[in-house]
Amino acid sequence: MTDDIYDHAYVAALFDRCSERYRRWSAVSSFGLAWLWRRQCVDRLHGQSQIARIQNGQVTKQAQKCPQVVDLMSGTGEVWPHVFDAFPRAQISAIDISQNMHAHAVTRLNQSRSRQINHFEANALDTDLPASSADMVVATFGLKTFNADQQTVLAHQISRILREGGCFSLIEASDPKGWLLRPLYRAYLDRALPLLERVFLHGAQDFNIIGTYTKNFGDCRHMAVALHAAGLNVTFKRHFFGCATSVAGTKPIAPDAPAP
Ligand SMILES: C[S@@+](CC[C@H](N)C(=O)[O-])C[C@H]1O[C@@H](n2cnc3c(N)ncnc32)[C@H](O)[C@@H]1O
Repeated sequence: MTDDIYDHAYVAALFDRCSERYRRWSAVSSFGLAWLWRRQCVDRLHGQSQIARIQNGQVTKQAQKCPQVVDLMSGTGEVWPHVFDAFPRAQISAIDISQNMHAHAVTRLNQSRSRQINHFEANALDTDLPASSADMVVATFGLKTFNADQQTVLAHQISRILREGGCFSLIEASDPKGWLLRPLYRAYLDRALPLLERVFLHGAQDFNIIGTYTKNFGDCRHMAVALHAAGLNVTFKRHFFGCATSVAGTKPIAPDAPAP
C-alpha cells in the first residue's frame, strides 16, 4: 500500500475503514457545523439554478422538474436530505471511490428515495458519466483529498459532465488564515480531535489524517481558479470566518451562431 495520501487507492482504503463511524464522527466533531455547511452548499446550488434560468435579463425556462444531480465524493449520502428538500424530484448519481461508504449510504436510505439514487463506485477524476448529462453537480467535503493538480482535473470533469446552463456548488472545510481564533481552531483540529478519536474511536487514527488534508488544502481558491479556467462562471464564498469555503456557479450557454 502506498504512503501517498493523494493516491486514490490510499484514499479509498482510508474511507473504507472510516465508513462505519463517519456519519456520527462528522456530526459530533464539527458541532453540527458540517450539517449547516451542507445546507448552505445546497442553498447555493438552488440559488445558482435560479440564476441559470436568466438569459438576456429575462427568466427563460421552467425550472427542471426532475433535475439530474451528480453528488461527487458522496460518502454516506449526508447531503441528500438537503438536496431533496430543495429539489424533491431530483435524480441523484452518487459517485464515491469507497465501496464501504456506498454500502453505508445504502443501508441508511429511505426506501421511498432509493429509486432516486444511483450509486457508482468510481474515481471522480475519471468517471465515464456522459458529457453534458448533469443539470447540477454538488460536492460536500470531498475536495480536500485532492492536491492542486487533481483539483484541476476535477474542475474539467465537472465542466464536462454539466450541460450548458447547468450549475454546481462545492463546499470544503478550510484553513481560516487570518482569523483571530485560528490558533484555537487549529489546536482543536490538530490536537483535540486526535485525542477524541483515540478515546471514542478505540485508538483508530484514520480521522486524524483529515486535519492534514484540511491544512494542505487551504481553501477553495485554487478550485475556483481551476473551474473558471475550465469555462465555468464561479463565485467564491467564505463560511464562518473561513472555516469552510465554497465555490458555486454555472456553465454558460454558448451563444447561437450568427445566421449565415
Ligand atoms: C469526507 S468524505 C465526504 C462525504 C460526504 N460528501 C459528506 O458530505 O459527508 C469524502 C469522500 O470522498 C470520497 N473520495 C475521495 N476521493 C475520491 C475520488 N477520487 N473519487 C470518488 N470519491 C472520492 C471518499 O471515499 C469519501 O467518501
